Amino acid sequence: MADTRVSLSGWTLDNPVIPASGTFGYGLEFAELYDIDCLGTFSFKGTTLEPRFGNPTPRIAECPAGMLNSVGLQNPGVESVIAETLPALKKVFHKKVIANVSGFSVDEYAAVCARLDREEQVGLLEVNVSCPNVRHGGMSFGTTPEAAAEVTRAVKAVTRKPVYIKLSPNVTDIVAVAVACEKAGADGLSLINTLLGMRIDLRRRRPVIANTMGGLSGRAIFPVALRMVYQVYEAVDLPVMGMGGVASAEDVLEMMLAGATAVQIGAANLTDPYVCRDVVRDLPAVMEKYGVTNLTDMIGGAHHGQRRHHSL
Ligand code: FUM
Repeated sequence: MADTRVSLSGWTLDNPVIPASGTFGYGLEFAELYDIDCLGTFSFKGTTLEPRFGNPTPRIAECPAGMLNSVGLQNPGVESVIAETLPALKKVFHKKVIANVSGFSVDEYAAVCARLDREEQVGLLEVNVSCPNVRHGGMSFGTTPEAAAEVTRAVKAVTRKPVYIKLSPNVTDIVAVAVACEKAGADGLSLINTLLGMRIDLRRRRPVIANTMGGLSGRAIFPVALRMVYQVYEAVDLPVMGMGGVASAEDVLEMMLAGATAVQIGAANLTDPYVCRDVVRDLPAVMEKYGVTNLTDMIGGAHHGQRRHHSL
């Protein structure tokens, strides 16, 4: 029988399928559609210290094989998430969740993580230094190794939960940022966030998105994400959560062969809200098709042993 379990920093998931932050809210709407306990876990919406209304509309632009978003970290703020959202989630989701954290200063990242550290429902912290849609924060912390390391150190100092840093693809050398996070004490890495892009409305001769630019996600970015997961896996000794354009059980296997321990599904949730449930369902048959009995054996399988040995 297919063994779909994977382990992230000592946390065993029933399967590696994880809806990505920003595409699954706090899980509550999806719990009305299906039993979300079938998921490995999910990563909740990027949460900041204060509530945020987000960017002006339009925030979305369609693209061939993908979409642009510039949501701007809309969220109710960490206190509301802890007081209201997590208790509501506990009634419909009986696993620990990934807390995606964003900030506008190093201190803010640390303050939000310190607050979430006390929450038993949070299995790990995914620290988002890669949101391309806000000024003075988000991605600006993820585009130099020094800044990413500074956030990593500050967060590690305030929590005992595993800290995974979510990396930006909008850099020349993602490996340098990944290595800096590892040296600063990160327990794992998530990659990739969206690629900065834009569209222009021909009639108005203006950008489609009110904020001019947005993050590209969806099928179009899968090969870029796969390449970056492959490169980062070879350079660090940390577990990697791979994401970017994943939409099928076959994509999950491909990401794992590149080096991902778990795989997040993002934009596909927005066009098919059942996609994660269906990928979980399809995984055992696809494993059987490719002769896989234990999913953990797939991690980094495309590297022919080129990675430094590591134990998860
Ligand atoms: O704009 C947003 O809320 C997106 C965040 C992200 O891509 O990290």
